[in-house]
Amino acid sequence: MEENLFGLEISDNNPAVNALFHQAMRFAGSVVDYKELMMMYACAIQEIRTKLEILDTEYNVRYRRNPITSITSRLKKSSSIMEKLMRKNQGLTLQSIEEYVHDVAGIRVVCPYIDDIYTIAEALLKQDDITLVERKDYIENPKPNGYRSLHLIVKVPVFFSEQRKEMAVEIQIRTIAMDFWASLEHQMKYKQEIPNQQEIVDKLAECAEVISRTDQEMLEIRRQIDASSDPQTEEDILLEKIRKLDINIM
Ligand code: GTP
Ligand code: MG
Repeated sequence: MEENLFGLEISDNNPAVNALFHQAMRFAGSVVDYKELMMMYACAIQEIRTKLEILDTEYNVRYRRNPITSITSRLKKSSSIMEKLMRKNQGLTLQSIEEYVHDVAGIRVVCPYIDDIYTIAEALLKQDDITLVERKDYIENPKPNGYRSLHLIVKVPVFFSEQRKEMAVEIQIRTIAMDFWASLEHQMKYKQEIPNQQEIVDKLAECAEVISRTDQEMLEIRRQIDASSDPQTEEDILLEKIRKLDINIM
């Protein structure tokens, strides 16, 4: 009689134990495959993060300004993946994760100004290894509650030792002001039922409007400053070029 790693005795004459063992083997296999898929999504995040950092570095050298304030990322929790598949009436398989859950890999990019959002999005989507799967512009069309952000779902190829795999990544791009609103609104969603719910909803929507106007005004101020500080004489242009040499690239 043989004993395996699960401490079960495999015997020809105990089909119940054998079945249990094979079930355990299949389960272990699925767990490993799931972990590998999550590793692949983590690598896709790395790819996109690097692309974004490169754009930020280039922009900094060219225009002496960073269009990206911060980049954060997360892998969706297993429980949330499961919930989403169940909500969509899909089976709990790795294949359906890839097919129906496009936000397993999530990246959030926070920019100083509204125009930076579109500059970054366009520059990323122009790259010939990036495929756009979905684009939702909640800045042009804010959600009824006031939520604003540009959402992209893209596919990016990731090169592993034995395969090249296209992985989906959800990218949310927003200004510091939009991020401030979304972060606080998100925290509030987890609070208990409150009596004057509608009043809160209205106030939050009003705050989102104020924030949006401020974003617009800050952009106009920056553009005004940009326009007036454009180098005028040939000497100014030369000095500006030389100043760029002093920027720390790394
Ligand atoms: P799911 O991806 O199934 O959740 O639905 P969807 O595809 O309609 O999602 P959508 O693109 O609208 O939003 C996806 C993500 O954006 C969410 O997981 C949040 O991170 C963020 N988001 C969307 N709406 C809101 C909102 O009203 N408030 C906040 N704080 N975040 C939001
Ligand atoms: Mg979504």
